[in-house]
Amino acid sequence: MAEQQPPLTIASWLRQQGSLARPELEVALCHALDCSRAHLLSHPEQQLTCAELKQLSHWTHQLRNHIPLAYLTGEQEFWGLSLSIDVRVLVPRPDTEILVECALECLPDAPASTQARALQALDLGTGSGAIALAIAQERRDVDIHACDISAECLAVAEVNSRALGLPISLRLSDWFERIDQRFHVIVANPPYIDSADPHLSQLQAEPRAALVAQNHGLADLQAIIERAPAHLHRDGWLLLEHGYDQGMATRELLTNRGFEQVGTRRDLGGNERVSWGQLPVHEAD
Ligand SMILES: C[S@@+](CC[C@H](N)C(=O)[O-])C[C@H]1O[C@@H](n2cnc3c(N)ncnc32)[C@H](O)[C@@H]1O
Repeated sequence: MAEQQPPLTIASWLRQQGSLARPELEVALCHALDCSRAHLLSHPEQQLTCAELKQLSHWTHQLRNHIPLAYLTGEQEFWGLSLSIDVRVLVPRPDTEILVECALECLPDAPASTQARALQALDLGTGSGAIALAIAQERRDVDIHACDISAECLAVAEVNSRALGLPISLRLSDWFERIDQRFHVIVANPPYIDSADPHLSQLQAEPRAALVAQNHGLADLQAIIERAPAHLHRDGWLLLEHGYDQGMATRELLTNRGFEQVGTRRDLGGNERVSWGQLPVHEAD
C-alpha cells in the first residue's frame, strides 16, 4: 500500500519551492487562499486544500518558465495601488517607485492664488499607468497626462484609472509626437535594454517594445532628452529611469542638452536607477 503523504501546510509548501523568490511565493499564496500576508505569517500551520495546491502548482510551474506572477493573478501592487495587469503591458517594478518618489520631490506646491490644477505632469510610455496613477494618488492638484505608443497599453491604463478613481488624460503618441503643451514635470521609464543583453531571455513574456531600445539601450532615453526642453515650463524637471549601467551616459545626455541640477538616485540594490535634470529658465517659454 502506498504510504500516505502528510498534508501540506503553508510553511511546508513554502519550504518545498526551492529557488523561487519568497515574496512572489507569498503573493501567490495570498491569491490562492484569498487571504492577507498577515494571515499567512500568523497561520503557518494551515493545511492547503487540493484545489489550492493545484492552483499553486500551476503558478509555480509558470514562474519557473519566467512568466511573471502578475500575468497569472492579473494584478500587481505598485505604490500601494492594486493595478490590473496583463500581457499587453510591462509589469511595473518596485524600483520604478524611486522615479515616483523623485518626481514628487520635484513637483512644486501649487500656487495658492490660481485655479485648481495649475500644475501639469506628463508620464511618457505609461504602460499600465503605474507612474501616472501613483503621482495622481499623491497630488490631486496636478493635471496628469500620460501617453504610450501602444493603444493596448492605453486600454489597460484606462481600466486602472477608472477602477482607482484617479483621472489622468491618456493619449496615443510616439513620445512627444502628439503632445502640444508644456509641463512642470516629465517622467519616463522608457525601454532601455540592449537587444544583446542576456537578461532578455528571462523577460520573454513581456512586450519587447516595452523593454528593448537601439544604440545599446540608449536610443529612447536620447530621443526623450533631445525633445523634452520644448515641452517643459521654465524650471521644469525631466526624470528618467534607466539601466543599472546607464547613469553616466544619461547624465551626459542631460548635461549636453543644457539641463542643470543633473543628478542620479540609486535603487535598493545600490545601482544607479533614476536620473534627472532641470531646464534652465532661459531655455523655456
Ligand atoms: C519600460 S515600459 C514602462 C511602462 C510603465 N511606465 C512602467 O513603468 O511600468 C516602456 C513603455 O514605453 C512604451 N513605449 C515604447 N516606445 C514608445 C514610444 N516611441 N512612444 C511612446 N511610448 C513608447 C511601451 O509601450 C511601454 O509601455
